Amino acid sequence: MTKKNTFLGIETSCDETAAAVIRENDKGTADVLSNIVSSQISEHKKFGGVVPELAARAHLENIDYIIKAALEESKVSLNEIDGVAATAGPGLIVCLTVGLNIAKSIAAFSNKPFVAVNHLEGHALSPGLENNIEFPYLLLLISGGHSQFLIVKDVNEYEQLGTTIDDALGEAFDKTAKMLDLGYPGGPSVEKASELGDKNFFKLPEPIINKAGCNLSFAGLKTAVLRESKKINGNKKLKFDLAASFQNTINKILFKKTKIAIEMFKKNINSSNVNLVVAGGVAANISIRENLKKLSKEIGFKVIYPNLKFCGDNAAMIAWAGIKRFKKKLLNEIDVNARSRWPLDENAPYMKGPGLKL
Ligand code: KG4
Ligand code: ZN
Repeated sequence: MTKKNTFLGIETSCDETAAAVIRENDKGTADVLSNIVSSQISEHKKFGGVVPELAARAHLENIDYIIKAALEESKVSLNEIDGVAATAGPGLIVCLTVGLNIAKSIAAFSNKPFVAVNHLEGHALSPGLENNIEFPYLLLLISGGHSQFLIVKDVNEYEQLGTTIDDALGEAFDKTAKMLDLGYPGGPSVEKASELGDKNFFKLPEPIINKAGCNLSFAGLKTAVLRESKKINGNKKLKFDLAASFQNTINKILFKKTKIAIEMFKKNINSSNVNLVVAGGVAANISIRENLKKLSKEIGFKVIYPNLKFCGDNAAMIAWAGIKRFKKKLLNEIDVNARSRWPLDENAPYMKGPGLKL
């Protein structure tokens, strides 16, 4: 019997302070022994978004307690742990360093291997916590900072097929929530409001829908929501209609672009056997899930969603990526630094800014 690794994971890249202990199991997935997430929603609510300095301070205040709680709940002592993993990027440096530094200290004083994890790789591999999925698979990663189609060829091996040329999808949800005064966090509040509205009431733009392959764009849609939101004068019905129309437009964009990405993926791997994984905070959106399920039935592929608790930021996915990298001997030295920018596919073209040709 091969040894089952147990890892402590730590995540502080944005506004969640999180720690988890997970262990490999016989099914090739993970036993999540603890998964503690302390959200800072109340701290950021009054500002309608994440304030980096406040977030960093809250991480500092919470991190010791969260790690202790994760270890206690797991009933695993530090001695029994095979390694420590922490998010090292991308994200807010002031936030990343809190979790990264404490993880490095724990690894150093307990003499354990250390793994610096790319937060996006955490999301990319997160379905593996519960599903035994074979590589390669197609990943639609939709979060607060990123929106990408990637081929996940293996651990540490990614090829980007498309990305957003402006805003991330989570950002578009958050800004829409702000414009409609729906409260923070934006994604869930827009989703809730959209259930009460008429999705066909507003005709909103679907930027670059007929060009640029499976690249995405949401800035023009956001501007259109802003324009319409100024006209509705607090009318509740129109507010819900606008939220519903926004959600419906997102669904139409993702439907079309995912269809294109599936074709690109099939060509790339030279097979028609497609597994699509949708991960990241926005993957918690039920309407998006149903919409892509519909596409999967229409053109024939399998779609896999992580459990809701593994969609948003969490440390179980960081510990899992840590184990996966550890098994490939992808360890880090204790002097590794945090990185604000860290693409999964380092060779992918940078798709933002003036002069971009589509
Ligand atoms: O992955 P995540 O927790 O953090 C980042 O890595 O960015 O994603 C956070 C994003 C936020 O923009 C949040 O509004 C969005 O995910 N989100 C949602 C939903 N739940 C969270 N967006 C749409 N619908 C949801 N139900
Ligand atoms: Zn995330």
